[in-house]
Amino acid sequence: MNQRIEMLKNWLKEAKIDAAFINSTENVFYLTNFHTDPHERLMGLFVFQEEEPFIVVPGMEARQVKDAGWGNEVIGYSDHEDPWHFIKQSIHKRNVKGSKVAFENEVLTYGRSQAFLDLFDSPAIVNVEDKLNEMRVVKDEKEIEIMRRAAKMADFGVEVGVSALEEGITEMEVLAKIEYELKKQGIREMSFSTMVLFGEKSGDPHGNPGDRRLKAGDFVLFDLGVVLEGYTSDITRTFAYKSVSDKQKEIYNTVLKAELASLEASKPGNRIGDLDQIARDIISDAGYGDYFPHRIGHGLGINVHEFPSMSHLNDGIIKTGMTYTIEPGIYVPEIGGVRIEDDVLITEDGYETLTKFPKDLQIIE
Ligand code: GLY
Ligand code: MN
Ligand code: MN
Repeated sequence: MNQRIEMLKNWLKEAKIDAAFINSTENVFYLTNFHTDPHERLMGLFVFQEEEPFIVVPGMEARQVKDAGWGNEVIGYSDHEDPWHFIKQSIHKRNVKGSKVAFENEVLTYGRSQAFLDLFDSPAIVNVEDKLNEMRVVKDEKEIEIMRRAAKMADFGVEVGVSALEEGITEMEVLAKIEYELKKQGIREMSFSTMVLFGEKSGDPHGNPGDRRLKAGDFVLFDLGVVLEGYTSDITRTFAYKSVSDKQKEIYNTVLKAELASLEASKPGNRIGDLDQIARDIISDAGYGDYFPHRIGHGLGINVHEFPSMSHLNDGIIKTGMTYTIEPGIYVPEIGGVRIEDDVLITEDGYETLTKFPKDLQIIE
């Protein structure tokens, strides 16, 4: 039995939870090494205190589960069958009381939670995500090695984007070049929809690339990441095209100062919320407080946004092995926006950025 499932079983024992249903593709992957996109079909893992866990998957994927190393029961069902019928049988042949059960509150649909609860007699409900978030927040050596490579691919994406810049090219044309080159490197999936934003469009933190053409004096903002072997990366770099105004320089250097200060505070034992506050204070002191509308970052791993939330309200403590983003930004609608984002790994005594693309202000000719 793998170590992660053992940890979860130990937690079930301590918390006196009889059964846990884990339904998200990310948590199933974390616990079993099986990664799939089941679309609307049911896929999930059932774990108990003592009894053998089992996994339910669309029948056509049963073989992949075994190939991923899963040695316990697999229920494969066809599109014409009701998986809950088989789940019920599998649970009933185990010695499971079911007075307290757990599932993922934030991801399980109402219908599926009802189907799960109907297997038992009015059980108490616990959120299993709290435990899984705690387990996932500290990465092991294998995860770090994959994330290092995913970050390197994100650096490469920015490099391709910069070399594609030329007067008159559109945001979507640059985006297509980035993703084409990444696909040639074997990347099947991006972590999220790639952003390439020019000029005033970079002033929208969640802007959509389109047919805006590049011209001198524009900021160029790239925000992109890849999924590699189940793990994500996420980088933002902002450049000036051909020329830069004093105001743009001031905005850029304020964001950079905030990013570096927040990175410097990235050490085991420090309060997570302080990282946001440090950056926020620098940006506010420069007069741009109203133009930094989001938290400093987010946990990074199997999900591109995962636990912990790097907000100034977070009283959690930074631990060795955590991975998260630091990404302050200033967005001034008529001028444009600057965001600088790195993927951070917490080491024994400080941090390392996994993304390494240079970040001093560059004017691209
Ligand atoms: N593009 C999403 C993020 O950086 O969090
Ligand atoms: Mn990003
Ligand atoms: Mn991010």
